[in-house]
This record gives sequence, structure tokens and C-alpha cells, in this order.
Amino acid sequence: TTRQTLVMGNWKLNGNKAMVAKLINDLQAPAAQHPNVAVAVCPPVLFLGQAQALLTDSPIALGAQDADLHSEGAFTGENSAVMYQEFGVHYVLVGHSERRTLHGESDAMVAAKFAAVQQAGLTPVLCIGETLEQFEANETQAVVERQLQEVIAHCGIAAFSKAVIAYEPVWAIGTGKTATPEIAQQVHAAIRTFIAGFDTTVAAKIQILYGGSVKGASAAGLFAMADIDGALVGGAALQAEEFAAIISAG
Ligand code: G3H
Repeated sequence: TTRQTLVMGNWKLNGNKAMVAKLINDLQAPAAQHPNVAVAVCPPVLFLGQAQALLTDSPIALGAQDADLHSEGAFTGENSAVMYQEFGVHYVLVGHSERRTLHGESDAMVAAKFAAVQQAGLTPVLCIGETLEQFEANETQAVVERQLQEVIAHCGIAAFSKAVIAYEPVWAIGTGKTATPEIAQQVHAAIRTFIAGFDTTVAAKIQILYGGSVKGASAAGLFAMADIDGALVGGAALQAEEFAAIISAG
């Protein structure tokens, strides 16, 4: 495969200034030692400025966890992709399951956010995945295809030539239950096939990350699969040694 492995840490609502400084410092060497692996961290927005300064001349890229669908205006409490431009942000997560569940984000909203991120020249990381109930009802493929379809309909398939997809089964997020490499691979392959139905070049090129309780010990098995191009890491991204082990597996 010609797709570069991408290991992205989503810190969620965690951290303080001291932790941001230490964690980024501790990740510099592991990232530099694996130039073949792309590494990114997504701290809470409040720490983007601090992280940007710490990441000057670093191979570690900066990401944000969400963005409003507007670039500016009367939208109290929101942050926009245009604002992220000034903070050296490269990636923006859109449609993380916690946003979909806890903040009521619909597929249509997620599609609008995806478009806003791209309009600002940043790379959206579209998060998709099924709940445990849907998994048990064998609805996984239908769910991820519906989630993809909405964005394709709104933004066009060409938009996926500058985007990343993160497949995160909701039942694996923060539960310690990682999908087996075989289960994950099956879904990743289905995602790529679905994209290929619109554009084979885009499908061959797009990085599809797996997310859900990835640890240092489980990363290599996942990365060995043909259609798994990296990981979106939550809990383990808060521990430098664990995250470094995932980078090493890439
Ligand atoms: O964005 C990251 C995912 O939600 C995975 O989180 O590694 O803590 O399961 P986790």
C-alpha cells in the first residue's frame, strides 16, 4: 500500500497546561524516530495556541476535535475552522460519536461541518461507526454507508481526495473492547468499496483509520490489515509511552 500510516491522538476533554507541555515534549522523540508514520494530536481548543508553539518545527501535526459549521457569527461557544487556520491546525475531527450522541449532531450537520473544514483549507477526519445495538443487528455496513452517503451527497466524492475517514465502532470507544483486526478490516474494506463505487482513485488513496480502545499491544495487528491505515486513539493518547508504542507499530 502507498497510503501513509496516520496515528492521531484525540485528547477529548482532558489536560491542563502542564500536561500539554509534558505530553507533547514526550512525544517529540518517538514521532521523529518514525518519519514514515504521520502523527497528530488533537488537544482541547483552549490549548491549541500552547500546542502550536510547542510544535514549531515538529513533525507532529495539530488537530482540533470539532468545528462549527459557520466560519463566524452569533454562535455562542463555538469555534470555527477559519479560526483554526491561525493556530496551525491541519486536521479537524467531524462527527465523532460523542458529538453525534451527546450533542445531537445529525448526518446533515456533520456533512456541513465537513464542508466548512475543507473550505478553510483544513483536512476533515470524518468519524463514522455503529452502536452495539446496530452491530448486533448486523447493520454495521448499512450504518457506515448512510453516514458516508450524506457527506458524499453534500460535498461530492472529490472532497474525499483531501479527507480522512475514521471508523470507530461506538461499542469499542472507551470500553477496552477493541474490534478484532479481522472485524475492523472487513468494515474498512466495505467502506473503501463503497467509496470506489463513486471514484476508484479516491478510494485507493483515502486513509481509513480505526478507532476504539487502540493500545500499543493491539496496534500492530490492526495496522497489518490491508485497509487499516492508522488509528484514532483516545485514552491511550494521554499516556506518552502507550501512544509512542502505537506510533512504533505503524
Ligand atoms: O477518538 C477516539 C476514539 O473515540 C477512541 O477512544 O481509544 O479511548 O477508545 P478510545
